[in-house]
Amino acid sequence: MSEFAIHDGVLHVEEIPLTELATRFGTPCYVYSRAAIVRQWEAFQAHMPAPHKVCYAVKANSNLAVLQVLAELGAGFDVVSGGEIARVLRAGGLAKNIVFSGVGKSDAEIRYALEQNIGQFNVESDAELDRIAAIAADLQCTARISFRVNPDVDAKTHPYIATGLEANKFGIPMQDALATYRRAARLPSVEIVGADCHIGSQLTETQPFLDALDRMLVLVDALAAEGISLKHLDMGGGLGVTYADETPPPIGHYLQAMHARLVDYPDLALYLEPGRAIVANAGVLLTRVEYLKANRSKHFVMVDAGMNDLLRPSLYQAHHDIVNVVASNAPEVTGDIVGPVCETGDFLGQNRTLRVAAGDLLAVKSAGAYGFAMSSNYNSRPRPPEVMVAGEQAYLIRARETLDDVWRGETLIPISDTQ
Ligand code: LLP
Repeated sequence: MSEFAIHDGVLHVEEIPLTELATRFGTPCYVYSRAAIVRQWEAFQAHMPAPHKVCYAVKANSNLAVLQVLAELGAGFDVVSGGEIARVLRAGGLAKNIVFSGVGKSDAEIRYALEQNIGQFNVESDAELDRIAAIAADLQCTARISFRVNPDVDAKTHPYIATGLEANKFGIPMQDALATYRRAARLPSVEIVGADCHIGSQLTETQPFLDALDRMLVLVDALAAEGISLKHLDMGGGLGVTYADETPPPIGHYLQAMHARLVDYPDLALYLEPGRAIVANAGVLLTRVEYLKANRSKHFVMVDAGMNDLLRPSLYQAHHDIVNVVASNAPEVTGDIVGPVCETGDFLGQNRTLRVAAGDLLAVKSAGAYGFAMSSNYNSRPRPPEVMVAGEQAYLIRARETLDDVWRGETLIPISDTQ
């Protein structure tokens, strides 16, 4: 995470001290490094076998400027809603580079996607196939489709972010895949282009990806034997990152291991949908200490960012390193770093040791993925701004919300005349 480094005792993002950003934009505040995003993107490009397509998973961080940076690099995009399609297009991404995943696509979303002529749908069920085929027929166009197949592989990750087990709601069971493909092959308004799976997120081992790939290749062979030849195989996202002491495989190792399995399939393009691996370590959440508090058994460091700003620690017991922005001489405290939200589960870190005093700035690291994207207005808290740093420049890429933003769309009801 070299774009976040200490110079002269102050944590910088690229060329800018975070202290300066706190003064300029206030806290809490998300800060991203453009160079870090570009570096991760390029790591995928450098090691991808040809032919391939990397489709950034928009859900990880869907800020328009983040999408713009990736669109300018020629990225594909994995989306899960009509809103994400619109964001990609608004940011300059190309419709033909969009793959539409998502387990519950509505009529309106499918119609919109077809009207925009997106690259393809990753279809999650027989019922969805029928719906897409009918809407495409109605629009007199052809929908390019892959099926998301559930390979029943244990991703060995947090149960909330494992998706490739039979017990999960995602995809078509492997045993049913052939029949579903056969049926799709007979529908005139769809064109089969590929197969897809996504087994989970924050994987720290290569083996589950390879197990899934092996199972998918058995399907590819079976389809080929029936005359259904696929143009690409989409292995989803899921490559983990280092939050604490995890040691996920480097991007190159993960890709080379998959490539080794694909040498006998030179015409089958590998698609990937990484989200976290591209943006997680490109962002921090900047927050200021409001109060120190202690009871007889525990210390609390109360900061101005809460679970509504960064939900991961509360929802998944996820670890994010939390560090001083400026080295402090304050006494050492061991306790929980907690936010202002009225929930016991509102913490950013537990049992951390830091030298802190009220007013100090802290950086919650690895917050670029599933950070702002999962934020909310719980407790009527305006969501924080997002800032993108590029060298010596800092751009406000999303303004801090105002209270008007928070209650936009709400209305008072007429005063009741029965009172
Ligand atoms: N493709 C599909 C179909 C997905 O469902 C996901 C993530 C991705 C790609 C990208 O996965 P990644 O490369 O980012 O692991 N909110 C959770 C993560 C949920 C991931 C959901 N699906 C978290 O904060 O850890």
